[in-house]
Formats: sequence, structure tokens, C-alpha cells
Amino acid sequence: MSKPCLLALSGSARRDSLNGKVLAVMACGAEVAGAEVRVVSLGEYPLPIYDGDLEDAQGLPDNAARLQQLFADHDGLLLTSPEYNGFFTPLLKNALDWVSRPLPDGSGQPGTVHVRGKPAGIAAASPGGLGGLRSLQHTRQYLANLGFLVVPEQMGVGQAGQAFTDGGELRDEDVRKGVEGVGAAVARLAMAVRGG
Ligand SMILES: Cc1cc2nc3c(=O)[nH]c(=O)nc-3n(C[C@H](O)[C@H](O)[C@H](O)COP(=O)(O)O)c2cc1C
Repeated sequence: MSKPCLLALSGSARRDSLNGKVLAVMACGAEVAGAEVRVVSLGEYPLPIYDGDLEDAQGLPDNAARLQQLFADHDGLLLTSPEYNGFFTPLLKNALDWVSRPLPDGSGQPGTVHVRGKPAGIAAASPGGLGGLRSLQHTRQYLANLGFLVVPEQMGVGQAGQAFTDGGELRDEDVRKGVEGVGAAVARLAMAVRGG
């Protein structure tokens, strides 16, 4: 059976994003565990703030439909996000809210048909001590509401400004293993869901 293919997204599209670096480590863990990973920046899919009047007038924006297709084409999700005042970011929430809207094919089905029952793994990174840990409960709940199966493993990488080598590796072995472990758990569950 072919390898499961996971979509990797970050709630930060910032250049030099700490969460982007954590995502790369998580992706590595998933690849070692037998998955393929495609890292995509939400910065490449700009979307207006969700607006029901705009949706009524113009339908689903092209970038929302493209993101829906990305979810349809992948077997699971690797996700990192900064914590903004205890929550994950508006960039992430807005993108996934658009993804949840009805498909543009006239079937009336919600975009969540493309994520339901697929595994997801989460982590956060922050320059602060808690590593965005407060946001992870909300991220977990939100993804579950969309229909993802969120693996129990998760990581908050604190003091993340000092956590990486110039080469993008996590200096602390336990932290590295923890982040890789989230990716590996998603890969394993994706294989189990596919029956492989
Ligand atoms: C609006 C805003 C709110 C923030 N709130 C928190 C917070 O609640 N907890 C925290 O640890 N860091 C907080 N930060 C700091 C971010 O963790 C920091 O900017 C981080 O580098 C963003 O992630 P990135 O490097 O992946 O872009 C906040 C930053 C912004 C801009």
C-alpha cells in the first residue's frame, strides 16, 4: 500500500516563524514513521475575513476551494500555530472556517466532508515559557469540531527563540522527540485508518 500523505500547515505565515520551524520537525517525525508530507503556507492562500454576505454574493473564494481540495487530497493534518492571547491565530481560524463551508460543486455538502475521520496532530511554539500550551486545548477542540481525529500527543515548545540551531534542529532532545512523536502518531493513525 502507498504511503499516507499528510498536509502540514502553520497558523503563522511569518518569515522565520518559530511555528514553521516546529512544523518542519513534526513533518520529519511523520516521514520517519512512513508518511509523505506536503508543507503548505497559508500565506499562499489569502482569503477575506469570512463574511456571509460576501459568500452569498460571490460564492466560495477560489483559495478556499483550493484549500478544500488540498484537504481532500491528503490523509491527515500536521498543524502548528502561535498562541495569540491564549488562542490559535485568526489566520488559521479564518482559513479553516472557509474550508468548512459548502463545496462549490452544487452538492450542498460542507467542506468538512474532506476532513472527517482524518488524523491530526498539533503543536505550538512561543518565545514565552509555556510554549503556547494554553492555545492547544482550543486548537484540539476546534479540529475535533471539524471532524478530525486529533491524536493525544501534543507539544508546546517554550523559549522557542533559543530552541533551534541555525540548521533548524531542536537543541533539546526531549523536545525534539516530543515534536517528532506528534508527527509519528499522526502517520501511524493515518496508516491504521487506511487499513495499512
Ligand atoms: C497578538 C499577539 C498575541 C500574542 N499572545 C501570546 C500569548 O498569549 N502567549 C504567548 O506565548 N505568546 C503570545 N504572543 C507572542 C507569539 O508567541 C510570538 O509572536 C511568536 O513568535 C509567534 O509565532 P511565529 O514565530 O510562529 O510567528 C502573541 C503575539 C501576538 C502578535
